Amino acid sequence: MNRWQELVARACEARKRAYAPYSRFAVGAALEDAQGRIWCGCNVESASYGLTVCAERVAIFSAVAAGASGFSKLVVASVGGHWPCGACRQVLAELAPGLIVAAVEAEEPQIHQTATIEELLPGTFRLDAPPPQS
Ligand code: THU
Repeated sequence: MNRWQELVARACEARKRAYAPYSRFAVGAALEDAQGRIWCGCNVESASYGLTVCAERVAIFSAVAAGASGFSKLVVASVGGHWPCGACRQVLAELAPGLIVAAVEAEEPQIHQTATIEELLPGTFRLDAPPPQS
């Protein structure tokens, strides 16, 4: 199994753990870091709808919280093979510059198309990092 295939399998597996009782739309994500480790996420919804977190952000926030960096590839799996939402694109563009993204149909998981995060979000919003507090 090549790396992309492994990411597809892991994204589909993560999708099964989605907590999506409100939308009933399950999403899985699998992200590869510089060391070749794979970080997974699924969407986690809330009865207070706006608190829902997408699969892609669960994956990258878990990875960053565990000290991972240098993200190179991301697979997102859903029925319909949807691309990451705008909020996730903003987060990914900041934390994973150069990332290559593939959106796959969960019921027939194959990669047909990839795009860089810069293609998905031209003109990413950026702030200069504030100086450390003394
Ligand atoms: N969702 C994701 O997990 N990723 C996206 O990029 C878009 C949407 C989730 C959020 C919510 O739980 C459900 O899909 C329907 O919007």
